[in-house]
Amino acid sequence: MSYTASALVPVSLEGNILVIRMHRPEKRNALNVEMYGAMAQALQQANGDPQVRVAVIAGEPDVFSAGNDIMDFIGNPPSDENHPVMQFLFALTNFEKPLIAAVNGMAVGIGTTLLLHCDLAYASEDARFHLPFVNLGLCPEAASSLLLPMRAGSHRAAEAILLGQPFDAATALAWGIVNRLTAPGKAEEAAMEAAARIAQQAPAAIRAARQLLREPLRLPVQDTLRREAAAFVGRLSSPEAAEAFQAFMQRRAPDFSQFS
Ligand code: COA
Repeated sequence: MSYTASALVPVSLEGNILVIRMHRPEKRNALNVEMYGAMAQALQQANGDPQVRVAVIAGEPDVFSAGNDIMDFIGNPPSDENHPVMQFLFALTNFEKPLIAAVNGMAVGIGTTLLLHCDLAYASEDARFHLPFVNLGLCPEAASSLLLPMRAGSHRAAEAILLGQPFDAATALAWGIVNRLTAPGKAEEAAMEAAARIAQQAPAAIRAARQLLREPLRLPVQDTLRREAAAFVGRLSSPEAAEAFQAFMQRRAPDFSQFS
């Protein structure tokens, strides 16, 4: 089966391992609708491909992802469940095979929240994480309002989301967002090693084990995705978000002082 993805998301099959790579280095791997669509398609296609036993999501050697493309927040805002962002999020929750992330560099917004949907996540010890939703006048997405408090605890989730400050890899490890830290630049190697190990295991046993691990949260996660999407769409058209997006384009800090 061939994987025809966008040039911004090269997809390759290495033995039984599907590697989905975010590749838009000039925009720090900010994800646009084309990339979400390509990643959704790759995951959906891999569900039906017996050659794929495990998938790895990776970025560039120096950046995982700068999160959603802020220009797309303005030009292509999520509308309904057919929107590529929603297609990607549902493809993550409906993926039937182990999914492993390799984080080198910055992981911002969806770059961090997608890790909560991965079975395993490896990060370089100099990786950085950031959930700047409220900084942009927005609110959490990708079911992170459910999954982050579950992983990290409610106080830590509130710290990450309400303060909106970047945090380091040691914090991401302590908060249960990643499994293990690697030497700088070696996260992909660790992810591929884990993937190779899984690819050698009995495939039906892996599928059964993974389904048992995931099933209890599948519907709550999907329900959360829908509730968050409704709130997020409202936030996107808010004056607060307009100020934040303008500030981003003008490379200045947003000023929320006039809002009540
Ligand atoms: N959306 C759109 N464009 C983005 C982007 C994003 N999320 N993140 C980076 N870019 C663009 C920049 O505008 C810049 O474009 P230009 O060269 O045409 O001016 C280019 O990518 C390089 O970004 P730059 O900020 O110069 O890189 P950096 O290495 O100094 O910083 C980040 C990297 C990720 C820390 C910084 O780009 C950033 O904070 N981005 C915004 C992250 C964000 O808020 N994402 C939304 C999450 S919901």
